[in-house]
Amino acid sequence: MKINQNFSNLAENYLFSTVGAKVSAYQKAHPESKVIKLSIGDVTRPLAPAVIEAMHRAVDDLSHAERFKGYGPDRYCYGYDALIDSIKSSYAKKGVALSSDEIFISDGAKSDLGNILDLFSADNTVLVPDPVYPVYVDTNVMAGRRILFANADEQNGFLPMPDKKVKADIIYICSPNNPTGAAYNREQLKAWVDYAIASDALILYDAAYEYFIQDPDLPRSVFEIEGARDCAVEICSYSKTAGFTGVRCGYTVVPNTLKREGFSLSRLWARRQSTKFNGASYIAQMGAAAVFTEEGEKEIAANIDYYRGNARRIAACLDSLGIWYTGGKNSPYLWMKCPRGMNSWEFFDYLLENANVVGTPGSGFGKNGEGFFRLTAFGTHENTEEACQRMRELLK
Ligand code: MLT
Repeated sequence: MKINQNFSNLAENYLFSTVGAKVSAYQKAHPESKVIKLSIGDVTRPLAPAVIEAMHRAVDDLSHAERFKGYGPDRYCYGYDALIDSIKSSYAKKGVALSSDEIFISDGAKSDLGNILDLFSADNTVLVPDPVYPVYVDTNVMAGRRILFANADEQNGFLPMPDKKVKADIIYICSPNNPTGAAYNREQLKAWVDYAIASDALILYDAAYEYFIQDPDLPRSVFEIEGARDCAVEICSYSKTAGFTGVRCGYTVVPNTLKREGFSLSRLWARRQSTKFNGASYIAQMGAAAVFTEEGEKEIAANIDYYRGNARRIAACLDSLGIWYTGGKNSPYLWMKCPRGMNSWEFFDYLLENANVVGTPGSGFGKNGEGFFRLTAFGTHENTEEACQRMRELLK
């Protein structure tokens, strides 16, 4: 038996595990401290009432022999029609027409982002932005793929554009971006789509944060861009949209027009999913199906507004301290420059030890993240306000 040696090329721990372990060690040593975590993007608002009601109904279904459900319907890789139809209607509002067999229900974006790589040869070259959500890098390191980085920095507003001299086969785009909060406009995204088509590459588009977009000029789906159906897969999640980080449900859109080397990617993905996945739970799917109803959308909008309030609080705090940042407007993340010339981990320790506030060190997202720091708006109002006060005090 031989181990996949590519694992030895990974950092010892997943970024958020490293942060979690450091915070736990600090709390153990300082049990009296009231630590406020604005690090991992985990939600704090309860699920929308429409979702809860739908989940209760689903539990009742499971308690009656005549309404009981086992495995989900085979037809759409275990996705229930009610959920698939609701996703289709939410895309229709963005002017994107999808057919049911292009929508694949999952247990969240993170799994699909890793799993979809099963479809692609290890010989492909991958292009990811730097800084980047570590999952894109780690999953490709595990498979031994060659990874190129597109520099995101202050000069380009953390929105790198394609470089015709660079040849990549798989391109990751996350907009609004995790970790920087920056979001591509239509022209910028069109440039990426054109570049992908010209080089026969595939875009893996992570739209996990699309619900945070407020600016009507910013696209919420890559499929709003002409040509994307021939070069992109879109991966979405209910985690941040509807607070499903603990419930687990997401969806991936693989257009049935998308072909490479004579293979239909949606057929390959269906084949992969039906072999290695048994679908998201019925209860989670029924809860998710309530998200894009009229009631559900109103309720999740209220939760997202709540988080936007936090983003405004953090932005006001950074403004008052004269600290440069991006994000926070169309995104739940604020990406700030570390003050006083500290590097990312120095600032992490400084903030933890002196203000008992936790964020995520930018360098954990890549070399261009060094000297930056990510704060999330997913906390409670009270904790966010208190964290801001502590930062104002410490950094004034
Ligand atoms: C983050 O904090 O970057 C995200 O919450 C992680 C994730 O969605 O897996």
